[in-house]
Amino acid sequence: MPPAPSSSSSELRLTVFGTGYLGITHAACMASLGFEVLGVDTDSSKIASLMAGHVPIYEPGLQELLRTEIQAGRLRFSTSYEKAAAFGDVHFICTGTPQLPGGEGADLSQVRSCVTALAPLVRSNSLLVGKSTVPVGTARALSRELAESGHQVEIAWNPEFLREGTAVTDTLAPDRIVVGVTSQLAEDLLRAVYRALTDGGSRFFATTLETAELAKVAANAFLATKVSFINAMAEVCEASGANVRGLSEILGADPRIGQSFLRAGLGFGGGCLPKDIRAFMARCTELGVDSAAGLLREVEKINLRRRSRTADLALELAGGDLAEVSVCVLGAAFKPGSDDVRESPALDVAQILHGLGAHVTVYDPVAMANAARACPELAYADTLEAAATGASLVLLLTEWPEFTALRPSDLGGIVKLKNIIDARNALRPELWRTAGWNYRALGVGAEASAPV
Ligand SMILES: NC(=O)c1ccc[n+]([C@@H]2O[C@H](COP(=O)([O-])OP(=O)(O)OC[C@H]3O[C@@H](n4cnc5c(N)ncnc54)[C@H](O)[C@@H]3O)[C@@H](O)[C@H]2O)c1
Repeated sequence: MPPAPSSSSSELRLTVFGTGYLGITHAACMASLGFEVLGVDTDSSKIASLMAGHVPIYEPGLQELLRTEIQAGRLRFSTSYEKAAAFGDVHFICTGTPQLPGGEGADLSQVRSCVTALAPLVRSNSLLVGKSTVPVGTARALSRELAESGHQVEIAWNPEFLREGTAVTDTLAPDRIVVGVTSQLAEDLLRAVYRALTDGGSRFFATTLETAELAKVAANAFLATKVSFINAMAEVCEASGANVRGLSEILGADPRIGQSFLRAGLGFGGGCLPKDIRAFMARCTELGVDSAAGLLREVEKINLRRRSRTADLALELAGGDLAEVSVCVLGAAFKPGSDDVRESPALDVAQILHGLGAHVTVYDPVAMANAARACPELAYADTLEAAATGASLVLLLTEWPEFTALRPSDLGGIVKLKNIIDARNALRPELWRTAGWNYRALGVGAEASAPV
């Protein structure tokens, strides 16, 4: 049974298990709301770094928040489950749920080992709250397993919708908070935890465990579908001579459709959308609803085709052979505002070009270290200028502001040949073409100049 929520929220003590992108952000933000928070991870080097006030990932605003909360004494870190179990009233589980090696489903081993190690240690009146993204049915199965092994601890599920790059503001001012609960006490407790956010206007949805789990996965599936929809339209534009930039603007003007996630380009990547839609497909198949899986399979195919299309454009601009061609790749992170290179479309394209014999030099404002670890075979330059100097082809693969602000004259004097592929539809074609560049983009014909 969770504690009665009559205690004021600042008296509640929270733990956060797993201090990755989600966990560090959640821990620091909950501390900033006035809670005492203990962050726990099995990676002792990560915990040592956090204790020293250093955030090992790039996330705007997080470093400052972490230091402030550590200094205020509200945020601490440990590797000890025993300490955490004795400390916390509410235990948030933020461990990873990567793709299963050799399969499409989610690898739940981090969540499972966290729950099974924690359950025997926690006070009987504490609440375990999953935040990790899991297949529908996971929380119910974990609850059943705990009950069967004699542990009377209650589990709730509170999926997280934050986006890397805006994680702090997304956590402190979310548009919705979703909690899947099996008791009124658990709902009241989570309402108490999030009171400051709901007072600030965030909507609060209390629902079943299954609906809460599905709310996250379905949101990701919808967003992935929207991205792939406009990228499928880009394919039609390429075949028909229409211009996907104009098409997207016109479609997005319909309020039922909206502009967000409707920019055609290299598609989605990162540590969430790709593995989450694959896990969703695997779960749909397990549940016997293969047609839903079929839709998402197309979504993924379209997404991956954009990468091969970009490589084809590169080959075309190089006259059919990329061997020994100097290529400058702008961007390694899966999106701007993040240093995350997990399933990064940019790095994937860079690797394809490398595989075709090109000399690829990559530059990214923050993701260089992660990129070099993930793809040591590529060359990396310390500056944009160094990456572009002598290049016969430039590819804009992640739309960082410093890339989208580029003017043709910034690169014109240092490249060997004026060839550019704008795989994020982020530059103004007419500027580059007027300055003598061979400008190509996804979903925009070779000759189209104006955006519409
Ligand atoms: N990254 C995002 O933007 C985001 C957004 C919403 C939801 N999510 C979901 O949140 C979850 C975590 O994602 P992430 O990106 O933070 O992953 P991550 O890999 O960055 O972090 C996971 C952390 O958990 C730790 N860990 C593993 N096993 C543990 C255990 N038994 N006990 C304690 N710590 C343990 C790891 O050492 C690591 O630090 C995933 O389910 C993901 O889908 C992520």
